[in-house]
Amino acid sequence: MYVTVSNFLDTGDVMIIPVFEGFKKAPNNVTSNLSRGASIAVKSAFLSESFQGKIGESLSVWTKNCQVILLGLGGKKDLTLKKSRDNGAKIFASLSKNHGTKIVIRYTAGWNVKKMTAFAEGMILRDYSFDKYQKKEDDKKGPWSLTCQTIERYQDELALAVNRAQAIATGVHLARDLGNEPANKLYPEEFGRRALEWSKDKQNVEVEVWNNDRLKEEGMFGLIEVGKGSIHKPCMVFFRLNPGADKDLEVPCIVGKGITFDSGGISIKGSAGMDEMKLDMHGSATVFGLFQALHASGYDGRINGITCMAENMPSAEAYRPGDVIDTYSGKTIEVLNTDAEGRNVLADGLWKASELNPSYIIDLATLTGSIVIALGHEATGLFSNNKLLSQKIQDAGDEVDEISWPMPLLPAFEKQMTSSKIADVRNQGKGRWGGASQAAGFLKQFVQEREDKEGKKSQIPWAHLDIAGTAGIWGGETNVTVGHGATGVQVRALHHLITQK
Ligand code: BES
Ligand code: MN
Ligand code: ZN
Repeated sequence: MYVTVSNFLDTGDVMIIPVFEGFKKAPNNVTSNLSRGASIAVKSAFLSESFQGKIGESLSVWTKNCQVILLGLGGKKDLTLKKSRDNGAKIFASLSKNHGTKIVIRYTAGWNVKKMTAFAEGMILRDYSFDKYQKKEDDKKGPWSLTCQTIERYQDELALAVNRAQAIATGVHLARDLGNEPANKLYPEEFGRRALEWSKDKQNVEVEVWNNDRLKEEGMFGLIEVGKGSIHKPCMVFFRLNPGADKDLEVPCIVGKGITFDSGGISIKGSAGMDEMKLDMHGSATVFGLFQALHASGYDGRINGITCMAENMPSAEAYRPGDVIDTYSGKTIEVLNTDAEGRNVLADGLWKASELNPSYIIDLATLTGSIVIALGHEATGLFSNNKLLSQKIQDAGDEVDEISWPMPLLPAFEKQMTSSKIADVRNQGKGRWGGASQAAGFLKQFVQEREDKEGKKSQIPWAHLDIAGTAGIWGGETNVTVGHGATGVQVRALHHLITQK
């Protein structure tokens, strides 16, 4: 989508006029540059009984040159950024290229830059489809263009904000692309290859891929054991943005679960909905997308990312229940269920992240069905060993409407997960209750402690985001910025967290 900001000039093929309830007549500027006949029709529509500007209300006026859509947004004071964004997304989803590809939005009375941006952002985010494996007719019509029209006073600020939203959206869309790729097309090494390719023409990024041999040398058997049942071998991918900057500062490290397909392995899943387990690498997709968003928006700080890529398959060579894994940390894991694989690969990723002496670690993972039971598709589950970090993540999420909801990290769950009779940790809890908390209790065992200046030991600030309910698995209509499939969740929230002053 090509986005610009201007005065009330072009009329476009589709003109969207989002308005608030309580107008007496057509707001100033709505009819500028429309023909006399079209102006009269639009003004009449504003005076008609059938449009009051209530939320969800819309009225189309067909003029010779363009379709004019009056879109009700309800009371001005009630328009949150989320409502603005969602309404932008919804109206965009209802458009068809058959009527032309030039969209004009006329922001008239009652708008501010944040709300205008959110509305346009909804459109930008929704302008996505994963159709590379389909024959498509639509292509000939070319991409959408969007002109945001407002009074001069707002134009510069709006242009900056919309450009930034667009830059961030390239990361969201990249994460969706990766999530939506089928597992026969996107397997661990292919993810690594794409990351390397992405880095090639970018001065300030570095990508490094550790293949199966390297993982063996390093002793990363969490990843190796999970991945060894597949013909596609596992790998670990390192993302470094602005590696030369902030040399003497501690910087964040973001870690992603990257199971390119989760069949469950020997503890195999049922077949219903198993196709969606191609999305089990959405944590890694979010990491990759976040780096794209940071790069595209010109972030100049240093930051690290690690993704743990493997395919979880049953085979004669697959790992089994009862096996013991020697992880990179030196701790051993008793495998009780091969379907609890995400935590095994993250064990190596988190320990590696700890070695980078980060300011904090955030991991993202489609980790448990339990978090979907707890929070549905409404919020990402947030577990953390650090109140300040947890609060910052919540605030960033609230700010951009990608909610993270705090869940407790209780010692009782850690105790369950460290009560194996034969290893240091077990990969399954003692029952089904609190499955997401069990998983978090497990992960916590792989975050290193370090000493502060006084020699006091404490664990590195860490947060775990269980995105199983928000990544796009098992449907859910709550995210209207997405039509279908991977959501790209947490790219915008983490971008906000990292870039805010
Ligand atoms: N990838 C799944 C979790 C998942 C389930 C994500 C449904 C999205 C939707 C994960 O690897 C898994 O299988 N978890 C098991 C753990 C259990 C075996 C301890 C689960 O949650 O059932
Ligand atoms: Mn699993
Ligand atoms: Zn999984």
